Amino acid sequence: MSFIRNAWYMAAWGHEVGDTPFGRKICGEPIVFYRDRATGKIAALQDRCCHRGAALSLGEVNDKGLACGYHGLVFDCSGRCVHVPGQDKIPAKLQVPRFEVEERDEIIWVWIGDPDKADRAKILPYPYHNDRARWPHRTHVYHVKAKYELLIENLMDLTHLAYVHKTTIGGNAQAHVEAKMTVERKENGLHFVRWLPNSQPPATYIKAVGFQGRVDRWMDFEFVAPGNVVQWTGALDVGRGAEQNRLQEGGFSLRILHSLTPETENTCFYFWSAANGYRQHDPSATDQLYDQIHTAFQEDKVMIEAQQAALDATGGEAGLVDIASDAARVHMRRTLTRLAEEGNAA
Ligand code: FES
Ligand SMILES: [Fe+2]
Repeated sequence: MSFIRNAWYMAAWGHEVGDTPFGRKICGEPIVFYRDRATGKIAALQDRCCHRGAALSLGEVNDKGLACGYHGLVFDCSGRCVHVPGQDKIPAKLQVPRFEVEERDEIIWVWIGDPDKADRAKILPYPYHNDRARWPHRTHVYHVKAKYELLIENLMDLTHLAYVHKTTIGGNAQAHVEAKMTVERKENGLHFVRWLPNSQPPATYIKAVGFQGRVDRWMDFEFVAPGNVVQWTGALDVGRGAEQNRLQEGGFSLRILHSLTPETENTCFYFWSAANGYRQHDPSATDQLYDQIHTAFQEDKVMIEAQQAALDATGGEAGLVDIASDAARVHMRRTLTRLAEEGNAA
């Protein structure tokens, strides 16, 4: 497998990169991120000093740039060496490769492919992070021992909720089987909405907003290739016309950003944020939501890591059989295959 290189991947949460250099491997590339002291802007360089190959992430940030921790060479945001201890002349060859990088909406995005193709207009917008009053949220990242595709698949087939999350966010298994689903295929992904009309709300929703009876519940998921899934989930009391208008006060509503980034072929980072859209003035509600999502996602992580191990032990995915609920998942995999082929052909 080859990575889809010409794409924006989430590399880190903005708050992960502070005063010290931060190393993370993305699509097999060791990268060091640092925040320029003068401008506050993020730089992304290959995590390999061009002097003797030391990891620059072991160095430190100073006023001139990033100083290698081995012999003290300093590199600026463009990767150019700007200081060699004990030497006035700096050869132009002293240069570390740099990556296109952008920080917005609390997210650091990186582009590992052809820099000329790095179109910043294609970065996934996530404006909810900038509206803390309406969408108070908390963020997290897991390192997962599985291909990133397996985690996106998990989000494309929500029938797993009734099994993997039966004691947490799952709710009633029969309601999931009866869900109505509309799928819209897009050039770079797909958008689906699942409705569980007139259903018993999960325990977590009742706890969150005190539903007394049955609800119309929706799960709105948009997959934006290669690694993002934007989720909006909610519920309103039956009779309030949720299917006609989901933007009503007094119900349950949350937004989750899932961003999956390959580290290596068989490992990835799972970035997520959970935004509380139902009791915005209550910080404990945001914390509770975060704790519940964290618990549920660890259930996914256990399942998916074991799936990856089982696939590894048996020669991969050959011979696996699709069922009806795989439609969105299959479209998602085809989209990724096509993007990988287009990238390799270009
Ligand atoms: S290896 Fe970086 S300064 Fe020598
Ligand atoms: Fe799940």
